[in-house]
Amino acid sequence: LPIIFATSEVTPWSKSGGLADVCGSLPFALARRAHRVMVIAPRYENYEDAIDTGARIGVPCYGGFQEVGIFHCIRAGVDFVFVDHPSFHRPEGSLYTDADGEAYEDNAFRFTLLAKAALEIPLQVPLNGELYGDAGVFVANDWQAGLLPVLMASVYRPRHVYQNARAVTIIHNIQYQGVYSPGIFQDLGIPDDWFGAVDYQFPPEERQGAYEEEGHSVNFLKAAISTSDRVVTVSPNYANEICTWLGGKGMDDLLNARRFTLSGITNGIDVAEWDPATDRHLGASADGTEWGEHYSRGNLAGKAACKRALQQEMALPEDPNAPLIGFVGRLSDQKGAGMLLDAIPHLVEVHNAQVVMLGTGNKDLEERLREMEHRYQNNVRGWVGFNVAKSHHIIAAADLFAMPSRFEPCGLTQLYSLRYGTIPVVAETGGLVDTVQNYNPHASQEEERGTGFTFAAGDGWACGGALERAIKTYREHPESFKEMQLRGMAQDMSWDVAAESYEQVFFWAKNDTAFC
Ligand code: ADP
Ligand code: GLC
Repeated sequence: LPIIFATSEVTPWSKSGGLADVCGSLPFALARRAHRVMVIAPRYENYEDAIDTGARIGVPCYGGFQEVGIFHCIRAGVDFVFVDHPSFHRPEGSLYTDADGEAYEDNAFRFTLLAKAALEIPLQVPLNGELYGDAGVFVANDWQAGLLPVLMASVYRPRHVYQNARAVTIIHNIQYQGVYSPGIFQDLGIPDDWFGAVDYQFPPEERQGAYEEEGHSVNFLKAAISTSDRVVTVSPNYANEICTWLGGKGMDDLLNARRFTLSGITNGIDVAEWDPATDRHLGASADGTEWGEHYSRGNLAGKAACKRALQQEMALPEDPNAPLIGFVGRLSDQKGAGMLLDAIPHLVEVHNAQVVMLGTGNKDLEERLREMEHRYQNNVRGWVGFNVAKSHHIIAAADLFAMPSRFEPCGLTQLYSLRYGTIPVVAETGGLVDTVQNYNPHASQEEERGTGFTFAAGDGWACGGALERAIKTYREHPESFKEMQLRGMAQDMSWDVAAESYEQVFFWAKNDTAFC
C-alpha cells in the first residue's frame, strides 16, 4: 500500500518535539511491513543528503501560483521528500516562531502550501522511476497538515482524482489547532460550500478579538478531523481524554460524533537511536571525545559512569549516591516544569538531590531555571536551549526522570527513560498512564510491581510527594529500585507493535469500515 506522510517536522532534518521523532521512525516500521512509504516535509534549510529532483510544481495558493522545488533522499527503503519554497527558510527563528517566540505571520500560508504540495507530489513526481499514484493512504500529522484531507475531499474528488485514496489524521497534540480569522478562507482554495468543514464557531463566552461577533474561525485541525476517513491519536488514554470537555479543547463534540473512527495507538520509539548499548552520544566518539560508557540491561555499570560524566559536564559534585533527577522538554504549560521547580527547594535541602533540567520555550520558565541554578549552585543545573546530545546525556545519567505534564498525548521521553533504566516519575495523564505503572512493592507478581512513580496530574504537592517516594526507594531499597529499572528496560518499545495497529487503521480506511 502506498502510504504518504505529510508533516511539518521530521528527524533528523527538523525537530521541535516528538512529532519529528514519530515521523522519522514510524515510516521505517511500515516499510518493513512491505509498504511503499514516503514522508513529505518542508525544506527549512539545505539538507546535504537530499538532492534536487529537478521537479517544479505550480501550486495554487493564496490567489497566486507558487512554484515549489522537490528534494529527495531514500533511507532504509523510505522516501523522504522535501518541499522547497522561500517561506520555509527562516534561519533567524525556529520552525514556527521568530526569535522572540512569536508565531510567523505567514504560518497559515506556509502550511497550506505544504498540504497542497503533498497532494500533488504522488501525482506528479516519480520517485525511483515510479509515481505513488492516486490510490494510497495519506497520513496528515497535526494541524500543520490539517488542510490535506479537506482539500482532497473538496477539490480533488469532485475532479475524479483520489477517488480510491484515503486520508488518516494523526493528532499528536490537540492544544495546537491552527486557528485563523475566517477572512483567510477565500485564500485556501476550498469551495465555499465546504466552509462548514473548516469553520469552528467559538462558544459565546470565548468570543473575543478577531472572533468577536459570530465567533467563526478557520481551524486547520477541525478541518482534518471532520474530513478524514479515520483519526488516530497517540495513546488510547488520550483518545478518551480528547472526547471530554476538559481534554477536547473544543473538538470533543466533533470527536464524539466520530468516536467509532477514532483510535488511540501508543507511540513506539526509535530503538536504534535510543539504545544505551550503542547510543552514539555515549562512550568514545569518532572525533576522539569520550562521554560516559555504554551499558545494557545485563550490565548497568556504564550507567554509573554516565552519571559521573554528567556531574563532570555540569560541574556538579561527583557524588554517586546523590539522587539525580533529570528533565528534558519544551518549557510550555503542558510539561509542568513549574511544578518541578517548586519542588526543588525541598528536594535539595532535605534530600540533597541533584536536578538537571534541559529545555527551551517560555521565557519566564527559562528565567526560573536560571534562578534555581543560581540559588542551588551545588545541586541544580538549568540548561536553556535545544541540544540533542545533552538530552541523551541526561536521560542516560539520571536516576529519576521527572515528567509533571499537565496533559501529555503520549510522551516519548518517559519511554526513552524506561529503556535507559532511568525511573520515570510522571503525572497520571494521557499516554503517561498507558506507559508507566506506579511502583507497588506489595504486588504478588514481580512483573506487577511497576516501572515508575505516578501522581495526580496538575497537583504540585503530589508531584513533590512522588519524587520523594522515588528518592526514598532509591536510597532505602536499592534492590527493589534495580528490579524496577530492569523491568522497564525489558519492555518492547519498538515501532513494530504500533505499526501493526496503524496498518489495521489504514485497512479500515481503505475498506470504509466505520465500526471497528
Ligand atoms: P513533545 O512532543 O510534547 O515535545 P515528547 O516527549 O513526545 O514531547 O517528545 C519530545 C522530544 O523532543 C524528545 O525527543 C525530547 O528528547 C526532545 N526534546 C525536547 N526538548 C528538548 C531540548 N531542549 N533539547 C533536546 N531535545 C529536546
Ligand atoms: C506531541 C505530544 C507528545 C507526543 C508527541 C509525538 O507533541 O505533546 O505527547 O509524544 O506529539 O506523538
